[in-house]
Amino acid sequence: MPKIMDGKKLAEDIKNAVRKEVLKLNERGFDVGLSVVLAGDDPASEQYFLAITKASKHVGITVYRHKLSGAVSTNELLNTVQSLNTDERVNGIMLFLPLPKRINARRIINSIAPEKDVDGLGAISIGRLAAEESTFQLFKGNEAEGLASRKLLPYMSSFIPCTPYGVIRFLEYYGVELKGKHVVVISKSLAVGKPLSLMLLAKEATVTVCHRETKNLPELTKQADILCTATGRPGLIKGDMVKDGVVIVDIGIKVLPDGRIVGDIAFDSVKDKVSLITPVPGGVGPVTIAMLLENTMMSAKRSELLKSPLMM
Ligand SMILES: NC(=O)c1ccc[n+]([C@@H]2O[C@H](COP(=O)([O-])OP(=O)(O)OC[C@H]3O[C@@H](n4cnc5c(N)ncnc54)[C@H](OP(=O)(O)O)[C@@H]3O)[C@@H](O)[C@H]2O)c1
Repeated sequence: MPKIMDGKKLAEDIKNAVRKEVLKLNERGFDVGLSVVLAGDDPASEQYFLAITKASKHVGITVYRHKLSGAVSTNELLNTVQSLNTDERVNGIMLFLPLPKRINARRIINSIAPEKDVDGLGAISIGRLAAEESTFQLFKGNEAEGLASRKLLPYMSSFIPCTPYGVIRFLEYYGVELKGKHVVVISKSLAVGKPLSLMLLAKEATVTVCHRETKNLPELTKQADILCTATGRPGLIKGDMVKDGVVIVDIGIKVLPDGRIVGDIAFDSVKDKVSLITPVPGGVGPVTIAMLLENTMMSAKRSELLKSPLMM
C-alpha cells in the first residue's frame, strides 16, 4: 500500500505556525485582516467561504466579507477592490471565482494591489513568479526556526498562488526531493498548472506540462518521478499510466452526482505502484486554505515592517 500524504495534518501544522506569528503581531498592536469578495450566489463559494472563515478564526485572522449581488457591475467591483486596497485593516484580498459571466474577472483580479494579492493570481504576482522575484517564499531559512524564518523580503510586494504553493509544501513536508527529478504536471491553468510549473523550475526539477491537446499523455506520465494532476477529470490517470515508485499529487476535485468527492486519479488501479499519494478529499484542499492564511500573515508582517521607524 502507498503512503498517504495527509493534507489535514500538514494544514494543521501550517495553521499552528501562522497562529503563533499572528499572536506576536497582535502583541505588538497589529491585527491581521483578510477581505473576501463574493459576487452572486454560488453554493460552492459559500462553502469555501465558511471553510476560510473557520480556519481564519483558528489562527486569529479577522475575515471581512464583502457580498455583492449577481447583478454587480464591473465599476462596483473595481470600487470595492480599490477601497480594500487602501484599507489599513486589510492585509489580504481574495476574490471568489467564478464571477458573473458579464464581468472580466482578470480585470478585477489585476486591480488588487500586489502587496495584498494573497491569492497570488494577479498579473504582477504571476509575472514576479516567472521572473523569480517572488520565489524566495519557496526557500526555507533556518529549519529549526520553522515558519518564523521563512524568508520575507519587505521590499518584495507579491505572493505566490496558494494551491501550487501548497503542492510544493506537501512535497517538502514528506521529504520529496525535487532537484533533478522529472515532474509531469497535467494542467496549464493560471490557478494551478502554470504557476506550479514555474515553482518546480525554481526548485530545479525538470518539468513537462500537459494539457488537453497533449498527444500521448500516457507516454509522458509513465516517465514521471512525480506526477501532479489538476484537471477535474475523475479517473484520468490509471495504473498503466505511471511507473513504479511514482509520487502523485492529486489536485483535481470533482463532486459526483452521488455526492462523493473525487480527484483525477483512479486510486485503486495506481495504489500498488505509487510510493506516496495525496488523497481526495483531505489532500491539497486543506493545505490551499492554510497557504492563504500564511500569505495573509506574511503580508501583515511586511506591512508592520514598513511602518517601523527604521524604514522611514
Ligand atoms: N485542491 C485545491 O485546493 C484546488 C484548487 C484549485 C483547483 N482545484 C481543482 O483542480 C481542477 C482544475 O482547476 P482549474 O481551475 O485549474 O481548472 P481549469 O482552468 O479548467 O484547468 C484544467 C486544466 O486541465 C487540463 N485538462 C482538462 N482535461 C484534460 C485531459 N483530459 N487531459 C489533459 N489535460 C486536461 C486543461 O487543459 P487545457 O488548458 O488544454 O484546457 C487545463 O489546463 C478542478 O478539479 C478544481 O476543482 C483544486
